Amino acid sequence: MPLYHKLGKIPHKRHTTFKKPDGSLYYEQLFGTIGFDGMSSLMYHIHRPTQVKEIEKTIDISPKAAVQYHVKSRLLKGLELPPEDDYLQSRKVILFNGDVHVGLAAPRKSMKDYFYKNADADELLFIHQGSGTLKTLLGEIPFGCGDYILIPRGMIYQIHFDSEDNRLLITESYHPIYTPKRYRNWFGQHLEHSPFCERDFRLPQNLETHDEKGDFVIKVKKQGHLHHLVYATHPFDIVGWDGYNYPYAFSIHDFEPITGRVHQPPPVHQTFETGAFVVCSFCPRLYDYHPEAIPAPYNHSNIDSDEVLYYVDGDFMSRKGIDKGYISLHPAGIPHGPHPGTYEASIGKKGTEELAVMIDTFKPLQLTQTALNLDDGKYYKSWLE
Ligand SMILES: [Fe+2]
Repeated sequence: MPLYHKLGKIPHKRHTTFKKPDGSLYYEQLFGTIGFDGMSSLMYHIHRPTQVKEIEKTIDISPKAAVQYHVKSRLLKGLELPPEDDYLQSRKVILFNGDVHVGLAAPRKSMKDYFYKNADADELLFIHQGSGTLKTLLGEIPFGCGDYILIPRGMIYQIHFDSEDNRLLITESYHPIYTPKRYRNWFGQHLEHSPFCERDFRLPQNLETHDEKGDFVIKVKKQGHLHHLVYATHPFDIVGWDGYNYPYAFSIHDFEPITGRVHQPPPVHQTFETGAFVVCSFCPRLYDYHPEAIPAPYNHSNIDSDEVLYYVDGDFMSRKGIDKGYISLHPAGIPHGPHPGTYEASIGKKGTEELAVMIDTFKPLQLTQTALNLDDGKYYKSWLE
């Protein structure tokens, strides 16, 4: 996040003595990425953050390909994924490649007896249903329906839900996730033409400091395996921090759509970018206002992108038979477009209430068995007259 933030108390100068009331020292930790070139934060712990007591077990949670090579357009019924109590167990990867894992989760319970850290990937949670609070060692972020929550790799967190009815779309990125560079100036500030700006980001707040010793389990995802580490002190023991590397939230409802006289291409919906995929937000908006405009998109070929579209709410103008939580997968190299009749029916329409999240990957995705379990099996023929 190219925006400076700080919480709690920090010393006037970095890398200098910072004393507790009893005269002993707080422990400084640099939390950064991309060597020392990426964004970083400096945090100050009551206890050394390095006190591993035990490494109990390691579980392989890497996704397994049920379909490695695919040309079939598919429609997955995401809300048919069965709920599970535990947050991590409820997370199911459906589509993946070496750059990105796309998954669904329907967790019923809050995380209470362990903490989690993804050391492999940035996590972008999209909250389709549910609300709660993300608790991290850098502070809390309350969340609700329509929120993107970006959690940088290495961030220790717990997620607490207000109820048991939760549905999440989870994107794990092996490349850092940023807002698009073209929206920002050379210092990183969002420009006037950006569909959102710094004011829309919700940063960590309410830094809670836990000075506790005991057995604290942190489940660490690394190289596709979940390692169970027991630490001697509570991981949320920070009295203050500052910097640029921290989680934040952004509501899809704060995305201001860019419209035109004729059909605008998908990049106007772009919300996040990485070196390997983009994330776009399709939000309620006025349609194209040229008197002869066709608001439905033209047929298009994703020659070098797999297109994943998660339907959140509203009617999706160019598709038939789409419901909330459905996910369409349009594979690279295969043209797709509006369903029969929707192209013509869109003419003269003034606006749309559609709400959807799109993930376009630059390399082909593979499908897991969970994806096949949700597949309607007939979508690829849905353009026949
Ligand atoms: Fe498309």
